[in-house]
Amino acid sequence: MRFWLILSVFCSSGLCFDFFLETIPKTVNWSSDPCEDFYRHVCPIGSVSDPLAKAVNSRRNAKQAASKIDHFKYLAHLAYGGTNGLAQRAGQLYEKRCEQGLDNQNLFSILKTLVVFDGHCYGVFCTDHLKLDTDCKRVGKIIRNTLPAFEGDIQKKRVEKLECLVLAAHNYMTIQEHVDQELEEAIMETNALVGEMKEIVKEMILATPWAANNNVIKSTLGAVLSTNLEVDFEKIKKNLFDQLTKIHLNYEECRNQFNNDNDANILCFWNSIDKHEFDKTYIYFEHYDLSFNAVNSFPNIYFGLPFYFIVKHTEELAAVLGSTGYIVGHELSHTLISSDNFPALTYFSQSAIDCIQKQFNSTCTEFKEESCLVQDVHLDENGADILGFQLAYSVLEKHYGNRLKDTYTPLNVTHQQLFFYSAALTSCEGKKGEVLLNRDRSLNGHSPSNIRINSIAQHPGFKEAFQCSDNSRMMQSATEQCHIYGKDAPVSRRR
Ligand SMILES: *[C@@H]1O[C@H](CO)[C@@H](O)[C@H](O)[C@H]1NC(C)=O
Ligand SMILES: *[C@@H]1O[C@H](CO)[C@@H](O)[C@H](O)[C@H]1NC(C)=O
Ligand SMILES: *[C@@H]1O[C@H](CO)[C@@H](O)[C@H](O)[C@H]1NC(C)=O
Repeated sequence: MRFWLILSVFCSSGLCFDFFLETIPKTVNWSSDPCEDFYRHVCPIGSVSDPLAKAVNSRRNAKQAASKIDHFKYLAHLAYGGTNGLAQRAGQLYEKRCEQGLDNQNLFSILKTLVVFDGHCYGVFCTDHLKLDTDCKRVGKIIRNTLPAFEGDIQKKRVEKLECLVLAAHNYMTIQEHVDQELEEAIMETNALVGEMKEIVKEMILATPWAANNNVIKSTLGAVLSTNLEVDFEKIKKNLFDQLTKIHLNYEECRNQFNNDNDANILCFWNSIDKHEFDKTYIYFEHYDLSFNAVNSFPNIYFGLPFYFIVKHTEELAAVLGSTGYIVGHELSHTLISSDNFPALTYFSQSAIDCIQKQFNSTCTEFKEESCLVQDVHLDENGADILGFQLAYSVLEKHYGNRLKDTYTPLNVTHQQLFFYSAALTSCEGKKGEVLLNRDRSLNGHSPSNIRINSIAQHPGFKEAFQCSDNSRMMQSATEQCHIYGKDAPVSRRR
């Protein structure tokens, strides 16, 4: 009876599933040894790639996400390049209205504002003489023939506003999707993780010899404490909604003046854009994103919707900490690993850099598949991986205490093991690991996924979790643990 009650509550949300219960059995090769090649134990060659992202996509309730903002979509559609044909439509509109004996005062004044550039009005729409000709066809033709010369300039002058409109609509819809998927609580929980990790790293910084010896404790603390996740999505949503609504009302009001004639759409679109002054606070920076990705855009950090989705639909905290928790640690760590690519700090320890790269070099040597490289461009990401795991693991230890080795019965693994399994799943690929390139063929900062995950061998928690012997491949590739911050961090005296 009791069992049934619990089950019915869990299922009442309509989503009777748990991310890791669903994904771990799909990929893990239970007959391989985790201490030999942990990544390939969890994600064998040929297994499904991006299992977490796929699970998120298959579970996202499309019906709920159905947009409630069709009118904004129409504005965005026009902004995306549906604005060709202004001259044809405006000429047609004029002719029709003229023939019906309707007033065209508004049409002429809108045309006039459209052809003002840098405070000067250019062309036949600047004066009133067209209005004095009563031949509807003749004037309609002049509009059709004259306006095309201005269309390029009309667009060019409003490029920035168009971009704002598109981004506002995009950002609004993205946040709305978070609301539709009921992720409010998960966002708050993720932010609580950010806060917990900041507290942990704060204590570490205070005890860091190289930071003390170089007088950068205060500035380093300042950098990490100002790294924030913007959780007030209602505020952002309202700001964008209000702006889009204003533009939409301008647009509708303009169309009304022309009896909602579709030939007025493009004209009214430009007119409504002209009337709006954008507040750009939430326009250029994405605080919310739908992809399986997270970003440190110092001082802001943000996490794609899938990470919140995982928080919402994962029962065991150890699995949340290994996945979303590891990514939270990773993004926060970007602030704390300073290099030429990402110089958030005023000083960073060279010994710490050497330690990080040494581990990745060793992991590369042991586990290289298609290709592997360790260069300066990889330092940020490699460092953020190492420190990010450490932070997430610290939170795990704090919450589980001596329950770390208890069995998580649904999967018959310990909580400690579950943490590592869920971490591997964040970058699970069924194909061979290879050096990643950017679109312009330059080196991407992320190491191959198998290297990123197997570098975790250096964390003492891994050896403990899987009882690895010293001559296993994972332990052979583990270098001395990098204490980037904390009392055991390098001394790095000022020279
Ligand atoms: C699972 O691991 C065993 C032992 O290492 C290996 O023989 C087998 O090929 C692996 N299966 C897959 C699907 O990779
Ligand atoms: C690892 O370090 C050695 C010695 O510095 C170097 O020769 C090698 O190219 C490095 N490996 C990688 C994958 O960068
Ligand atoms: C659970 O795992 C342990 C140790 O890995 C194993 O000895 C045991 O047989 C497993 N139990 C079940 C029910 O599979």
